[in-house]
Amino acid sequence: AFVVTDNCVKCKYTDCVEVCPVDCFYEGPNFLVIHPDECIDCALCEPECPAEAIYSEDEVPAGQEQYIELNAELSEEWADNNITEQKDPLPDAAEWDGVADKLQYLER
Ligand code: SF4
Ligand code: F3S
Repeated sequence: AFVVTDNCVKCKYTDCVEVCPVDCFYEGPNFLVIHPDECIDCALCEPECPAEAIYSEDEVPAGQEQYIELNAELSEEWADNNITEQKDPLPDAAEWDGVADKLQYLER
């Protein structure tokens, strides 16, 4: 499956959700996740993310492996919040884009 990683936190650009053929993105307050059992590995979302936050689970950057489990866990927790249409990014997205170690800010 593909995985949403650290740089999505506090940005949430949502370009990714528009292209997913199986609508497997789920939304939290300041982050999105991909449901690993629903993702068909089409790779369409990866280049759409302006924050370059989406990776194949085999290519998740070192130190961000915990996001693999987090996508699985939060996609269940946020099961009622399927998101399929792009919306405005979070207000401070541009300032937070590229800031390291944003896991501490993830709201759930
Ligand atoms: Fe959806 Fe394809 Fe991205 Fe998986 S890889 S989340 S199926 S767009
Ligand atoms: Fe997040 Fe990128 Fe999608 S910032 S909401 S993974 S477009």
